[in-house]
Amino acid sequence: MLAVHGVTELRDRVQRWRLAGERIALVPTMGNLHAGHMQLVEEAHRHASRAVVSIFVNPLQFGPGEDYQSYPRTLDADQAKLEAARADLLFVPGVEDMYPGGRDQVTRVDVPGLAAILDGEFRPGHFSGVATVVLKLFNMVQPDVALFGEKDYQQLQIVRRLVADLSLPVEIVGVPTVREADGLAMSSRNQYLTAAQRQQAPLLYRTLGETAAALHAGRRDFSRLEAEAVQKLSPQLRPDYVSIRAAHTLAIADADTRDFVVLAAAWLGKARLIDNIQVTVGAASRPR
Ligand code: PAJ
Repeated sequence: MLAVHGVTELRDRVQRWRLAGERIALVPTMGNLHAGHMQLVEEAHRHASRAVVSIFVNPLQFGPGEDYQSYPRTLDADQAKLEAARADLLFVPGVEDMYPGGRDQVTRVDVPGLAAILDGEFRPGHFSGVATVVLKLFNMVQPDVALFGEKDYQQLQIVRRLVADLSLPVEIVGVPTVREADGLAMSSRNQYLTAAQRQQAPLLYRTLGETAAALHAGRRDFSRLEAEAVQKLSPQLRPDYVSIRAAHTLAIADADTRDFVVLAAAWLGKARLIDNIQVTVGAASRPR
């Protein structure tokens, strides 16, 4: 597997494949690869003949005081994993390759509405940083298909919206969350947890599962369910939110919603954990 840093060389390599009629997949990451990322690479092989993986810790999507400096950077180990997974090309741009004009005045894209709610409320500017780097990566690689994890459910919806609104010629594939044996969603940030915190962390997924079960059982008192979930998480975890939304729009759920997603973000020590669970219920039988 070849690793390239510059955009010119990247374009040159991908162009050769394109001219040979190959279908190109892109898996954007920030590195420190785990089994969740590798699932995206595996899925990429199912959707395309060439899999390009990018590793770039994107400063634009970190807020002041967030973990940009301390975010784990493990390029050698990542490269070995990608080799084993038969990735075709690794794109590892430096900050100066990605933002040659500096990042303060860089043109940004915003996906209003979707970017302002849930995680966007707690991390102002985060999703504009994500949307901007994803659009740049799409323009650099020009993939036919790009793969994103459902673990970052709001991010996936924002990318879908970006692609639809800007008529980008790329197919977006969502990949189900890969979890540890005890249910904790795999994340690079899990390594910020102490051993004791790691024991407590599965409470997040367990609680979401209980909320999902309540929806299945027919409960529709959403605010109450959210408050109960917050209660269950506290005080071991410090929840930013638990929210029951319509799965496709992220609108607040109402009596007509059938496809739900329950999303949560919670602090555990230095780690901010996010997770979600999708729930589809049958149409309620209504008197005619
Ligand atoms: P990163 O957190 O490295 O994640 C890269 C991709 O892996 C994302 O699509 C994410 O949803 C997916 N992923 C992470 N953990 C997963 C898990 N446990 N199961 C399945 N998929 C998982 O998300 C980002 O980077 C960045 O915001 C990025 C899109 C690269 C833009 O900078």
